[in-house]
Amino acid sequence: QQRPKSVIVIFGATGDLAKRKLFPSIYRLYQNGKISEDFAVIGLARRPWTNDTFRENVEISIEETVSPATDLEEFSSHFYYQSFDVTEPSSYNGLNELLNELEGTYQTEGNRIFYLAMAPEYFGSIANNLRKYGLKETEGWTRLVIEKPFGHDLKSAKELNNQIREAFNEDQIYRIDHYLGKEMVQNIEVIRFANGIFEHLWNNRFISNIQITSSESLGVEERARYYDHSGAARDMVQNHMLQMVALLAMEPPINLTTDEIRSEKIKVLRALRNLTEDEVDENFVRGQYGPGVIRRRNVNGYREEAEELAYSQTETFVAGKVMIDNYRWAGVPFYIRTGKRLAEKATHIVVEFKDIPMNLYYEDQKKNPNLLVISIQPNEGITLFLNAKKSGHGSAAQPIQLSYNNEGVNGINTPEAYEKLLFDCMQGDTTNFTHWDEVANSWEYIDSILETWANREPDFPNYNSGSMGPDEADKLLEKDGFHWWPIT
Ligand code: BG6
Repeated sequence: QQRPKSVIVIFGATGDLAKRKLFPSIYRLYQNGKISEDFAVIGLARRPWTNDTFRENVEISIEETVSPATDLEEFSSHFYYQSFDVTEPSSYNGLNELLNELEGTYQTEGNRIFYLAMAPEYFGSIANNLRKYGLKETEGWTRLVIEKPFGHDLKSAKELNNQIREAFNEDQIYRIDHYLGKEMVQNIEVIRFANGIFEHLWNNRFISNIQITSSESLGVEERARYYDHSGAARDMVQNHMLQMVALLAMEPPINLTTDEIRSEKIKVLRALRNLTEDEVDENFVRGQYGPGVIRRRNVNGYREEAEELAYSQTETFVAGKVMIDNYRWAGVPFYIRTGKRLAEKATHIVVEFKDIPMNLYYEDQKKNPNLLVISIQPNEGITLFLNAKKSGHGSAAQPIQLSYNNEGVNGINTPEAYEKLLFDCMQGDTTNFTHWDEVANSWEYIDSILETWANREPDFPNYNSGSMGPDEADKLLEKDGFHWWPIT
């Protein structure tokens, strides 16, 4: 197979994302021979850097994240920098000249990726300026990669989408949700559809509930400005959490093409039960962290993290019960939970199967339901919880675990989410990017929650750092006779 060739133009090249994720990902693709040696990267940002300063920064970022890092000088010689003002026509004209020049030098066949890794308020105007100043006029393909947040609610997302669509077609737009690049998130479909034993049971007759937890131990860090305007529902639920719900709940696609997979996911998101105000109160819990202790270290509460957060009403935690109104899932709650400054950094999914009809083996009347646990991070693996005979006398049963752990297999060579997504983009594969209909349906769902919350005074802070969130998040499941399965 031919290795893809292109020039990658990064808007926001001096930013954190470029440094932490994009440069190392491009490096690993290059190092592993996934992309052609004929590639170039143009970094754009306001700062008046030279190519040399840019290259030095690229090298440093790789040294910090990839080991061993060899051939760095040769690699970074493919990087070029241009100081850029997104509102200035001359910036776009200059970029076009540089692109034409590099396309000659590197023979990249006119293929151009425009990667927007910067403040979202400019996404729409940049997309339009790229068309207006002729940057889409090339013999190869042009693709636009957009980082989140994609809008602030359905209305603003629609406006943004309409703006972008004036310049790019849907199949040229790559909306990033980096969870879709994670190995074990991609594995959800394979586990479901490549195993004869699960799919028969994957419905409301055999599954009692599904729990998705994505907990973080870090707080808001340096992102107070962005985060306080966003909050956990917009930052994590609208995208990552609902994407995992869609993958767990979708029907088997008729084949593995992008359109088929996406259309099954869209159907799930369309079937999400929208909530009235009372139902939001009943089914969703929000929280904000107070001070506490994480791994023996005292940490501040959210409101103490920065001056402008002193009176913040922004949620740093969300738990909710999501219902999907379709034939397969009617009556099965999908419980989701995500938050900052929780006890651990871990993402996992627990599929809880219904109890056996009659209790033969448990003296204490305690049944242990079968669980399928999909660990997304930091461990990557699958564990099936079954019951087997307790060894020794008697016939009591005890839970046992069948586990597959990805860690020992691929170790540090498991490609990073961004690496995979960037490669997909270079190959023109949009499967693991979010289609506009997915974005729109997710926003519609989240909007009803946020609108209700806007009318209520929150009781913040309501959980300690280092805990697993507010007590209400536990009560949410207790009401239904369930509990959160602990992270193992
Ligand atoms: C990002 C959010 O999309 O995902 C962050 O903006 C969050 O707030 C991050 O920390 C979590 O990603 P991961 O891959 O570390 O689970």
